[in-house]
Amino acid sequence: MAFKVAVLPGDGIGPEVVAEAVKVIRAVSSDFEFEEALIGGIAYDQTGHPLPAKTLDLCHEADAALMGAVGGPKWDNIQPTSLRPEVGALLALRSELNLYSNVRPAKTMKALLTASPLKGDHGMIDLCVVRELTGGIYFGEPRERRENGTVAVDTCIYSRAEIERITLNAFDVARARRREVVSVDKANVLETSRLWREVVTELAAQNPDVKVTHMLVDNCAMQLIRDPRQFDVILTENMFGDILSDEASMITGSLGLLPSASLSDAKGDLPFGLYEPVHGSAPDIAGQGRANPVATILSAAMMLQYTFKNLEAAKRIEDACNKVLESGLRTADIFEPGCQLVSTSKLGDAIAAAV
Ligand code: IPM
Ligand code: MG
Repeated sequence: MAFKVAVLPGDGIGPEVVAEAVKVIRAVSSDFEFEEALIGGIAYDQTGHPLPAKTLDLCHEADAALMGAVGGPKWDNIQPTSLRPEVGALLALRSELNLYSNVRPAKTMKALLTASPLKGDHGMIDLCVVRELTGGIYFGEPRERRENGTVAVDTCIYSRAEIERITLNAFDVARARRREVVSVDKANVLETSRLWREVVTELAAQNPDVKVTHMLVDNCAMQLIRDPRQFDVILTENMFGDILSDEASMITGSLGLLPSASLSDAKGDLPFGLYEPVHGSAPDIAGQGRANPVATILSAAMMLQYTFKNLEAAKRIEDACNKVLESGLRTADIFEPGCQLVSTSKLGDAIAAAV
């Protein structure tokens, strides 16, 4: 039986990098059928909405979705802001599809260690941020202006159930790694963080195979620079996870190489996931064959791992990316003297051949 993958290329370099990821999945398995749909600025231009109903329907019926990127300067000033690609497509998709668990691994590739801003082996990290993605201050009500617009309100709100499901998910992620979870909060100040810590502590006691510790978010931001190799899995709420995942990703030297998964509960046996590169739509280089497809190809590997439970195929894709980069092929963003500069599709071809 073929699995169905919704393909959402989006804006900027999205279509170019997604095409390479589809190429690599096809090279590794014939179990998948792909169906494309519009999302982001291009969807707004063609249909008047950045997340057309047809796209949402396709995601609901598919087993997984592979996305490129959305947004760009052309759509930055759309009014109302709820129609901007970031809000109207990305945040809406997270909430509509209940994608509450955002898994963002940050792993330095040996061939690219010199690009890390940290000295020597300090930059050689292999950690994973598990970020709660559908709650907290991003979605809490009320959010409004008061006093003639001179006062602004956002609300951070978390329920026990929301904290439980992301925590259990982080434990599962840890079980496939070194089984160490650092739960990050601001429990010395915030009530939501005190509930967070209470729930995580309870679940830790029921899951003794995973080692769980707690860390305040400001300390975590510092520890990531001081000694990032102490971390295996970082479990945290929505906004802290947004910030810490950018920080962690930069330690690897290039945002352009990092994949991500946004997971919801299982459809049948398989957890539905939206897989996308951590980088944005890079409109300045769109359409020139200069984009780095590795982050999207690694996102496809995460799709095989997390939704389709095909660890062997996922590993083959990861190994192929490493092998091709170690052989010296580079897109412009990670080019170094002595390496061979190739286009987006040439790098995709090489990785597809290497799997
Ligand atoms: C991310 C991005 C988004 C977020 C923006 C584009 C809304 O920064 O996926 O990390 O804040 O979640
Ligand atoms: Mg972010």
